[in-house]
Amino acid sequence: MVTACKYHEQTKHTPERVRTNTFSLDFENKPRPYKIYEDISQISLGESLQSLDKPALAAIATSSPEPRLDADPPSLDAQSLQTLCHYATGVTKTLKRRGRKMRFRAAACTGKLYHVDLYAVIGAVDGLDPGVYHFDPDTESFDVLRVGDYRGVLAQATDDFSAVANAPMTFVATSQWWRNAWKYRNRTYRHAFWDSGTILATLLAVASALGHESSVVAGFADEPVVRLLGIDPEEEAPLELVPVGSGSPAPDAQDIEQIDPDEVPLSDHVVAYPLVFDAWRQSTLGDNEAVRAWRQQFTEVDDHAFGTHDRGDGRLVTLDPVDTSTASSRPVTTTIERRGSLREYSHDAISDRKVATILDRALRGVPTDCGEAASHLVDYYCLVHAVEGIPSGAYQYHPEATVLERLGETSRQTAGHLALDQSVVGEAAVNVYIMADVDSIVEQVGNRGYRLAQLLGGISLGRLYLATYAHRTLGGRGFTFYDDLVSEHLSPRAANQTPMTLFAFGKRVE
Ligand SMILES: Cc1cc2nc3c(=O)[nH]c(=O)nc-3n(C[C@H](O)[C@H](O)[C@H](O)COP(=O)(O)O)c2cc1C
Repeated sequence: MVTACKYHEQTKHTPERVRTNTFSLDFENKPRPYKIYEDISQISLGESLQSLDKPALAAIATSSPEPRLDADPPSLDAQSLQTLCHYATGVTKTLKRRGRKMRFRAAACTGKLYHVDLYAVIGAVDGLDPGVYHFDPDTESFDVLRVGDYRGVLAQATDDFSAVANAPMTFVATSQWWRNAWKYRNRTYRHAFWDSGTILATLLAVASALGHESSVVAGFADEPVVRLLGIDPEEEAPLELVPVGSGSPAPDAQDIEQIDPDEVPLSDHVVAYPLVFDAWRQSTLGDNEAVRAWRQQFTEVDDHAFGTHDRGDGRLVTLDPVDTSTASSRPVTTTIERRGSLREYSHDAISDRKVATILDRALRGVPTDCGEAASHLVDYYCLVHAVEGIPSGAYQYHPEATVLERLGETSRQTAGHLALDQSVVGEAAVNVYIMADVDSIVEQVGNRGYRLAQLLGGISLGRLYLATYAHRTLGGRGFTFYDDLVSEHLSPRAANQTPMTLFAFGKRVE
């Protein structure tokens, strides 16, 4: 039985562990990055995607769509489902590298291993029967797991959380562990939340651009969701729910007959990493009462219970993000299509207003079922290397005041060392670390709280990607790090915190 704190500790990268690591990848046994069911009917909803002109910078920053003047809210239909799935986890580009075709997906993923899948639990929407569907990114069609309106099961599993109980469609994100554990082994439990986080960032942004409410639901009874999807959590487990749309009450929960659909094996053999499943299992919630009690804890904590930090006495740099009329208007869908992970950065300084805009739009907080308190789970730190008007240094970013507070010196060389000795990280103009006090979080809201902290790291990373790629000349990439070295570098402020995720961005080499 592993607690989240122990799991986190055991899976930290240290220079020593990396130096003595003898693990090598078995390419003959590399898993396929998507699942194939043996005998399940598939439906294709056609290839037409909705074109969305809402600017990416606006779509990522608004958790709910602006109130509409027209009387009827837009309806969700089959085309919306296709659009949401394509831009969240579909194949958005194919590139030829060393004579081989490589397919890249909408959202960034550790090792390009694409282990996170989306399922949609749907009531009555135009052009599609109610049912439980699995999105197949290989063919961009839908595997039909169940026919009928099963939304009540999710409503009950979330203790009748209103966004789920009234959504015409709710997505469930899962990780099929082996698809990531092939390379990352026990770290896959962390990666599940990082990599579902980047997908959720795009899903929320596209939902907003379509004109629909959406949010992230971290509190749900796991077992009924597992049963509904017909998965085995030792191999694939549910991570979070995302209800989209409103005004469509779910029927009462119906009985869920057992299903166990056969799948084509992912590779010759699966290597088990029991720690991953155990860490997940130790964070499950048993039933709707457990969900209610878990969520209740967030209403009882004060702003500092999770070990995050208010402003101290460091020198402040006031940031001045551009307003909506002068912000880049690159549409969200174009931004997702243009997104990639940049490997080479110019050393040129980037504009302070662009940096301000990226931080402001990407790090405004995520709508979750845990309310306002969830915005106090993580802090944001920046290593600035080349930004016009901002001296190089380590800073804490305070989103509510849009200021950077100076903490001390840094250097490009140190930045590369912290990031698992990837010197390219120091070449970028800015590095953003999303940090959390894992011990305090687990003390207050248990092992399930650790899931949420890692997920917020992943969603922030996904939003930082989108906010960066909304600007034509900029690019960025998620990176991994030596956990404790990062905490030390940002101490004393961040001495109690440990990094969840890291994003580096800067100017592309022309
Ligand atoms: C959480 C996270 C951590 C990552 N860490 C690294 C890293 O340490 N080094 C690296 O070169 N790329 C890293 N990446 C980038 C992935 O390799 C990249 O997303 C993947 O190859 C897919 O390519 P794309 O982002 O261009 O679509 C990371 C991505 C994510 C989402």
